[in-house]
Amino acid sequence: MIAFVTTNEGKYREVSAILADAGVNIVREDRSYPEIQADRLEKVVRFAATVLDDQIRGDYLIDDSGLFLDAFGGFPGVYSSYVHKRLGNPGLLKLLQDAKTRAATFETVFLLRQGGSHEVFHGECRGTIAAGERGTGGFGFDPIFVPEGAAKTFAEMTVTEKNRVSHRARAVAALLAHLRGPKQP
Ligand code: IMP
Repeated sequence: MIAFVTTNEGKYREVSAILADAGVNIVREDRSYPEIQADRLEKVVRFAATVLDDQIRGDYLIDDSGLFLDAFGGFPGVYSSYVHKRLGNPGLLKLLQDAKTRAATFETVFLLRQGGSHEVFHGECRGTIAAGERGTGGFGFDPIFVPEGAAKTFAEMTVTEKNRVSHRARAVAALLAHLRGPKQP
């Protein structure tokens, strides 16, 4: 059994839906951990693991994600949580008002601690920032992010629809490939 350590119910809903379909059971561990300021998401999860290793007995999974805007050289990226708290989606839309491009990438980095070792998995999703907020589903920046090839924002999609294309779903696919191990010849 893997504990998904997150205070974010939305993340848990997305990840557990895919893993349940794949026959992998997880439980939610609703606990926060230190998130350092670093230039890469991977450093954030690697530091968090040094703390959680002493607090959690069995296997666990953590998720750090961010929204990287092309117009601002990737900002807010690793600062996404702070920016979302301070500016919210309306503030981000304002910042983008005169931007040359509304292209953006969502990224997720997972860290799995299993049997004493740490494995990291990445997932990303290209898209654009909508002109305004749309939809009531999901969380965070979901109402303003339209994934490439879609007309709806993540917040206008069901969990199943978001899971077909999202950064987090791609990280889950990489995690699943690891859990299943190398293919037999
Ligand atoms: P963190 O991974 O919880 O640090 O997320 C950073 C910020 O990005 C928070 O404000 C989250 O709400 C937001 N965020 C993370 N993943 C997603 C997502 O899949 N959709 C929309 N916002 C997200």
